[in-house]
Amino acid sequence: MADKYIELNNSERMPAIGLGTWRGDESGLLAQTIKTAVGLGYRHIDCAKIYGNQVEIGKALTEVDVPRKDLYIVSKIYENRHRPELVAGALDDILNELQLEYLDLLLMHWPHALKPEVTTMSFDSSDIDNVPIMDTWRAMEDLVSTGKVRSIGVSNFNQAILEKMIPQCRIVPAVNQIEIHPYNQAKELVKFCKTSGIAVTGYCPLGGTRVNVMNDDFIKHVAEAHVGTPAQVALSWALARGIAVIPKSTNELRLKQNLHQVTLTSDEMRMIGKIEKQERKVDPAREHKELEWVFHEDKMVCPVI
Ligand SMILES: NC(=O)c1ccc[n+]([C@@H]2O[C@H](COP(=O)([O-])OP(=O)(O)OC[C@H]3O[C@@H](n4cnc5c(N)ncnc54)[C@H](OP(=O)(O)O)[C@@H]3O)[C@@H](O)[C@H]2O)c1
Repeated sequence: MADKYIELNNSERMPAIGLGTWRGDESGLLAQTIKTAVGLGYRHIDCAKIYGNQVEIGKALTEVDVPRKDLYIVSKIYENRHRPELVAGALDDILNELQLEYLDLLLMHWPHALKPEVTTMSFDSSDIDNVPIMDTWRAMEDLVSTGKVRSIGVSNFNQAILEKMIPQCRIVPAVNQIEIHPYNQAKELVKFCKTSGIAVTGYCPLGGTRVNVMNDDFIKHVAEAHVGTPAQVALSWALARGIAVIPKSTNELRLKQNLHQVTLTSDEMRMIGKIEKQERKVDPAREHKELEWVFHEDKMVCPVI
């Protein structure tokens, strides 16, 4: 249900189920989706500057019947604002688009940086910028005392980066948002984050549009056994691992279903643990070999800390 929370390392708590908004506007339905979702009980909304839809989300948020303090709004600094002198302005821009005075959680969307003039998700390898992660992170740490952001975290960070980063942090990331679904379970990384006090949010928890988790025979079999849906099985499996989930849907019935879990047996949890395929929806190395280090730690050249 929507009233589950994940405790963060700074005494804040994050609703365990959130609404994804990437491409939530593909059919012009985003504003209505936000209002419907909040009406159904969603309190956590996952946004990002690069999704290009925060203005629409911000307007919809002014029209919901829930006080700001009861919402949990997350957004992400895009790679083109990693230079430390650009970070505070990037947050102000996000707040302005969302019509908010503060964010509950601000994430560094990716560990790699792009040159400031890049404004889309498609870029050339020559657009990659050489900004050390800790320079960006220290600028993010400075934002917490301004009151414009309650927690700060990262996204798409692997264990090798976090291991180098954590000893240098004044504020350890509260959250690492990474791709998690039954075909990409990230067992080692989740374990490392938990022992380091970093909460995990799973993005593409249904496999997104690329990874076919919803058609997996075993997931479908478990769904039938619980008189539920494959999506409920995938989400319940992640939540039972203590991972927050941010499924995206623009469909009211699916929004409603995604809020309700099934209780998986330990055998079902164990068996789902075995259908791992290390199949990702998202991997920047598909287009940019230079970015293999982001998800393939053995390729880690680490010019970035
Ligand atoms: N940090 C990052 O780098 C990063 C990367 C990717 C995504 N994200 C975040 O994670 C969110 C979720 O990821 P995602 O949107 O890529 O994928 P997802 O939530 O795993 O899957 C969304 C897809 O599943 C469908 N769907 C939703 N509920 C369903 C259900 N109950 N049964 C069957 N199909 C269902 C949706 O279609 P309908 O809308 O038609 O229901 C949509 O096509 C994003 O929206 C974004 O906020 C973050």
